[in-house]
Amino acid sequence: MVLKNAFLLKDADSGIQKLDLKIENGKISEIGKIEEDGIDLSGKLVMPAFYNTHTHAAMSMMRGISDDDTFDVWLFKKVLPLEEKLDEEMVYYGTMLSMMEMASKGIAGFIDMYFFLDEVAKAAEEFGMRALITRGLVDENGDDNGRLQKNLDFAKRWNGKGLIKAGFGPHAPYSCSMGYLRKIADIAKVENLPVHLHLYEAEWERDEYDFREILDVFKYVKLIAAHAVQFKEDEIRELARENIFVSHNPSSNLKLGNGVARVAEMIEKGVNVALGTDGAASNNSLDIWHEMRLAALLQKMRNPANLKVSQAIKMATEMGAKAMGINAGKIEAGMEADLIVVNIDKPHYLPIEDLKSHIVHAGSSGDVFATMVAGKWIYHDGKFPTIDEREVLKGFKRAHTRLMGS
Ligand code: NI
Repeated sequence: MVLKNAFLLKDADSGIQKLDLKIENGKISEIGKIEEDGIDLSGKLVMPAFYNTHTHAAMSMMRGISDDDTFDVWLFKKVLPLEEKLDEEMVYYGTMLSMMEMASKGIAGFIDMYFFLDEVAKAAEEFGMRALITRGLVDENGDDNGRLQKNLDFAKRWNGKGLIKAGFGPHAPYSCSMGYLRKIADIAKVENLPVHLHLYEAEWERDEYDFREILDVFKYVKLIAAHAVQFKEDEIRELARENIFVSHNPSSNLKLGNGVARVAEMIEKGVNVALGTDGAASNNSLDIWHEMRLAALLQKMRNPANLKVSQAIKMATEMGAKAMGINAGKIEAGMEADLIVVNIDKPHYLPIEDLKSHIVHAGSSGDVFATMVAGKWIYHDGKFPTIDEREVLKGFKRAHTRLMGS
């Protein structure tokens, strides 16, 4: 496939150029002036796709159920009782619906924490979206009702199958005992799989455990730490480790009243920071484009020099790909062909000289024309070529009616 005549943003640090692009076997094979017939993308921008590094995709089943509650009420009174009722079909269609939303907003892959993992994987495989799938793990005095074993069995079945990757998902240090976290860390190390957990999201978590102890437990595994809102300035340095990725979820953190993570300081101190939306029950949209701008604005509240355009784009693209463990996030020969086509033939993309700024500060996910994953369109001009859209919407409604009625 050859994409022609588009403006091209190769990566977060580059300027925008007019170059053609060739894609072979799911990878980018050539960039430059290509003298072959191809798809004409005049008036459009091609750039690396986004990655959503923290979500619970099936929670689209609960979008809007608890908009004005505290974090505790939201989690313990609203979300957990409904999650007790979820079954395979609900998780499958919830995940499918979320992937439709994410693909239409330029997202090529997501890191998930949920249950009924085979349904999540099956949905992602059918859709053609990348997914790093982890099971939410909790225990009571060491008893986890077989959850960790299920997570491990899933990983053995699915890790590396197509675009699917697996990891472990200890929910949070306050819902897992220390012994259990150590056990998870040991298995993750042996299996060489990442760990995905919520860390220092709410302020009261600081009284429950010491983050240093947690980082120490996961010293030898890749750790995707969602939120990291409550880190104080002098503690941030301890997150700057090659194996740690912070997933910054600004909308969810604001909506649940948890505050604003010190992302500008994190980046300055060399912490790997990517972006996430969290689930649709706390955001309520799965829109990395939106998170990117909000992240930039929140850091600028304290100093307008914070979080420059290139840093915001990097969090959404390159850092997301690194957190997921894939060779993408930039448009370079040899890299995975995960990219988005943006319709820039709109007033808010002028003047064209500052196009890169407009991506962060003027554009929106509504401008996404197409999303490509590993060389295949998963969203194109309003359509979802890999799935039966009507069947998914019908299935979602049917499953949702059952969830609310049961
Ligand atoms: Ni979460």
